[in-house]
Amino acid sequence: MSVDLRTTYLGLELNNPIVASASPLTGHVESLKRLEEAGVAAVVLPSLFEEQIEHERMESYAVQELGSGAFAEAMSGYFPDVPATVSRSEAHLDLIAQAKRALSVPVIASLNGTTVGGWLAYAEAMQEAGADAIELNVYFVPADPTETSAQVEERYVNLVQVLASRISIPLTVKMSPFFSAPANMALRLIDAGAHGLVLFNRFMQPDIDLETLAVTPNIQLSTPAEVRLPLRWIAILREHVTASLAATTGAHTSEDVTKLLLAGADAVCIASALLRNGPGYVERLTSGLRTWMTEREYASVEQLKGSVARAAVQDPNAYERANYMSALTSFTPRPHTP
Ligand SMILES: Cc1cc2nc3c(=O)[nH]c(=O)nc-3n(C[C@H](O)[C@H](O)[C@H](O)COP(=O)(O)O)c2cc1C
Repeated sequence: MSVDLRTTYLGLELNNPIVASASPLTGHVESLKRLEEAGVAAVVLPSLFEEQIEHERMESYAVQELGSGAFAEAMSGYFPDVPATVSRSEAHLDLIAQAKRALSVPVIASLNGTTVGGWLAYAEAMQEAGADAIELNVYFVPADPTETSAQVEERYVNLVQVLASRISIPLTVKMSPFFSAPANMALRLIDAGAHGLVLFNRFMQPDIDLETLAVTPNIQLSTPAEVRLPLRWIAILREHVTASLAATTGAHTSEDVTKLLLAGADAVCIASALLRNGPGYVERLTSGLRTWMTEREYASVEQLKGSVARAAVQDPNAYERANYMSALTSFTPRPHTP
């Protein structure tokens, strides 16, 4: 029996549910091509950051100011003759255009920032460069104790509203799991104009170097145990949203992918497992999924999707507190020798 792995994500028809999540692997045309050859269904390019864009805008403003002060010609509209360097933002737009030319799978561009501002204009530029959709990553650490949860939520909603009003391609939001009411927040982001959500953004936690006492931002790849967080929330949210839901964080094996689809994901975005195993690993993921589906006589991913979501299971509480209580009480500690 042949199985149909196709799925729809953000209105885009994908050949299968595996999406290469934003990472250094998606930042070069060569590795993007290798991902496509291995069967990836879509790619998310690395983020263009608010700080990068704003820094370049300030630099370009400073250059203009320098010009007007230093030369009399400035009065008649002279613009200083700066060396023709390509800014990171321009290089990023160029990567989108190159990826579009080199690949036939959808190319999703990523914007990463926290405030409503001029930098959001890059969404339009990304659309013009050919991006099929935009992923917004609001990597915000609410460290100010005077900022309330309502204000943090407004920040997200405003960003999505502004961005959605500027582009005609689909917008998806890679959201944080750290809300008091993640399900309510998810619905509000969709109301604000998001066509999909990516659950969840994985925050890099800082470390302290005991030799130098410096705070070090060293990156650690995810572990398979982390997949349980998106699994739960996708299962809970599936019955409440018709918008697309993609999973990210902790999906390492074809079993993880299968579980996330059963919970209700439309697509599964993968970074750590591809960084560890290389682009060719995509093939292992799709073939593992195909084998599992064949053995259980699932004809299509569409049929599989959401069949173990909260609304579909006998005991929906298993995704909530009941799961916690029974897990705690059924745990048997291993005997330890003194
Ligand atoms: C080295 C590295 C670079 C990343 N760069 C980005 C990025 O530019 N933008 C973004 O939204 N996420 C970025 N991520 C996060 C991944 O896209 C992904 O969401 C996260 O690693 C969780 O998925 P995983 O468990 O499959 O790794 C990066 C992750 C890693 C490990």
